[in-house]
Amino acid sequence: MIEFCGLKLRHPVINASGCFDVLAAARVFGDELFEQFPFAAYVSKTITLRARAGNPPPRLWESAAGLINSIGLPNGGLRAYLETDLPALAAALPVPLITNVMGSTPEEVGEILDALEAEATVAAIELNVSCPNVATGLDIGADPDGLEALLHHVRPRSSKPLIVKLTPNTADVAACAAGAQAGGADAVSLINTLRALALAPGGSGAWLGGGSGGLSGPAIRTVALAQVSRVAQRVTIPVVGMGGVASGADARDLLDAGATLVAVGTESFRDPAAGSRIARELDDGFTQIAH
Ligand SMILES: Cc1cc2nc3c(=O)[nH]c(=O)nc-3n(C[C@H](O)[C@H](O)[C@H](O)COP(=O)(O)O)c2cc1C
Repeated sequence: MIEFCGLKLRHPVINASGCFDVLAAARVFGDELFEQFPFAAYVSKTITLRARAGNPPPRLWESAAGLINSIGLPNGGLRAYLETDLPALAAALPVPLITNVMGSTPEEVGEILDALEAEATVAAIELNVSCPNVATGLDIGADPDGLEALLHHVRPRSSKPLIVKLTPNTADVAACAAGAQAGGADAVSLINTLRALALAPGGSGAWLGGGSGGLSGPAIRTVALAQVSRVAQRVTIPVVGMGGVASGADARDLLDAGATLVAVGTESFRDPAAGSRIARELDDGFTQIAH
């Protein structure tokens, strides 16, 4: 059993936001999914205050050992999440729910946190700060002082554990993690996707409908390890490590670098049972070490 921000989890493997749609998976795999649920907690895809259509296609590009996505966070908005997704998740999930949220202003984030406060199904909140700041074009979480100020504004709006999902697209991720902690975050998670570009054949510009995208998968594993290690040395709050995890050995590396939990993202598209496999491989490793 692992203790994380007051949650008791069966093992240290959870899903990365946006990479495992539990309600869609249930339609494909049926009740079996919930009997052997792959993750120790379930993280929702990002929800925003208002509905978003997402980016125009194409939305994916396969790169060497990685995936560039420009999905654009399509979702039905807060109201639809509360009315439709949340009751379905409450009825189905055998593990704690972490709801991932994003807002383009502190007021928007505050409004979402207010609405989630009354929802007992939501065990914790993950705040995605990889949203572009309309004034600067940088991610809103890319500036340590700005991130701390955002946290000071929104932290009092929620009594639930608040995990700040840091952006890797910044000069100093450890300083951003320290800013999140100073602003009252209970944990940080990283890494989100790295900004990347794929060009269409024939010189006709960006391949992805949204322009640039975010790189994930094995290609970012060593970057994730470096960033998790730096952040874990800088903060005292728990760290959730992710980025290219595809095996128990990859998860072990992130735990050794200082993470308390590990999240599996892109690998779940290749193998929907990856979460269980990675938790099992980790456990086997523990057993081997113990023997
Ligand atoms: C298709 C796709 C959709 C994603 N959607 C979200 C999202 O909605 N919110 C979020 O915080 N991160 C999102 N991510 C980022 C992942 O949660 C994760 O941080 C990143 O992919 C690195 O992990 P990985 O290499 O194991 O995929 C998404 C990633 C992918 C590939």
